[in-house]
Amino acid sequence: MKSTFHTPIADRDGKMLSPWQMTGQPAPQIAASPAQVADCLIVGGGITGLTAALLLQQAGKKVVLAEARNSGFGTTGGTSAHINTFADTTYPEAESAFGEDGAQLFADAIKEGFGLISSNIKTLKIDCDFESRPGYIYAENEDEVKQLDEIYKGAVKVGVAVSYTEDVPTPVPFQKALVWDGQAQFHPLKYLQGLQMAFLAAGGIIRENTLITGIETADGIHIATSDTDDIRAKAVIYATHMPPNINLFNFECAPYRSYVMAVKLKSGKYPDALIYDTQEPYHYVRTHVVNDEELLLAGGLDHKTGHEDPEKAFTDLEKYIRKYYNVSSIKYRWSSQYYVPVDGLPYIGQMPMAADGIFCATGYNGNGMMLGSIAARILSDLVLNKENKYEKLFSPSRIKPMDSFSEFVKENADVAYHFVADRVGIHETDSLKRLQPGTGKVVEIDGEKIAAYRDDDGVIHALSPVCTHAACVVNWNGAEKSWDCPCHGARYDIRGHVLTGPATKGLPAISYDQN
Ligand code: FES
Repeated sequence: MKSTFHTPIADRDGKMLSPWQMTGQPAPQIAASPAQVADCLIVGGGITGLTAALLLQQAGKKVVLAEARNSGFGTTGGTSAHINTFADTTYPEAESAFGEDGAQLFADAIKEGFGLISSNIKTLKIDCDFESRPGYIYAENEDEVKQLDEIYKGAVKVGVAVSYTEDVPTPVPFQKALVWDGQAQFHPLKYLQGLQMAFLAAGGIIRENTLITGIETADGIHIATSDTDDIRAKAVIYATHMPPNINLFNFECAPYRSYVMAVKLKSGKYPDALIYDTQEPYHYVRTHVVNDEELLLAGGLDHKTGHEDPEKAFTDLEKYIRKYYNVSSIKYRWSSQYYVPVDGLPYIGQMPMAADGIFCATGYNGNGMMLGSIAARILSDLVLNKENKYEKLFSPSRIKPMDSFSEFVKENADVAYHFVADRVGIHETDSLKRLQPGTGKVVEIDGEKIAAYRDDDGVIHALSPVCTHAACVVNWNGAEKSWDCPCHGARYDIRGHVLTGPATKGLPAISYDQN
């Protein structure tokens, strides 16, 4: 049965709507939480959290999943939903940082994550638009050709099927291209909902609108504090992308925004493939049928959160699409966030400097579908005290290879800049009066900075611009109508409520005389 909604079936961490929010079924009823100690508390209802929840519940554990808003509110509700056998960190890059064995294991993990999604869809009979398609990557100049050749050699070395091709379904002129058979795509929220139904049917408990603000451990039991009550569990998995509050990952992962548009083409001809260029930042296109309508999904133009203008990113993306395709209408535009790990591989396992039995997974780069799925398997194995062959490679406590060190320094220099420049470099002279309806800006009034948003009725919403995570100053995201922190990626809505961690407290309102 086709389902079309005029209001979103699920909320997401931004004002723009992804097609995933507008199709599918409303979420099933959620059970109430019992007072007993759970075997595992999972914090976060995205692909990592729900996959792990299901695996553990199926293994006979009593699992409670706490989600600050609704399932898929974070990146899973805004992903471009590519399922690949290759990754943003190329296999040669993985080899240079982790050796041949590390690159091989990374390739195996990507493949296993892919396989877990496919088998869940098959076993649970999840109707989620899953389709197998070929994937193409092409190079447009000599430098990109060299890069492409490296990607080819690296993939062959780890046994991932790839070949050169001269035939790519793209209007973009290219010099050389690779084809990867058997890539895939799906509707991420329909998939998530399939996992959720199976988890609930197996006796799992989901607590939506439950923000976990802290965890204390006593006698081997973790006590998680939420706005309403405490949840007790023998193990905890943070499946929130960036774990909350200040932690090591703030210095090991950089937050990035990525942009997507879904457009109709005058030609009515849509590529039956997943297609990527090798530019920096890169672009991709793929086709998805939304409400019986074929749409070209085109995206990319990724940049560090809070560092560039998101509205300009959409303008540039639209220009790029119109350069190569005859667009009849734009149906959707949205953006999402992911974290780039400093040494190229995700951090999955026991959380450093936390009590034993508190686990986390972060730093998926742009490959959250496969890595979120394999992270769920690794973490559920750790909770079950089972060995997992990827545990050491992805351990959050791993020694950072020297190769990554220059990048590590760069990321941190960047954060340091925002700590310093945001606090002493006050040059803002703009007046609130010039703020147009529907826009926001950090402005200075009487020597004090405020994050000011003027709504469509002309009312100013004034907030402290100082991020509650570690005191950087937030920037306005005019596309998603949010305040984004350039340091570690926390994001807040126009009322100051947290949209994305690692912050757990909102931006305080500042009273402002409207006259
Ligand atoms: Fe760390 Fe804002 S997210 S200071």
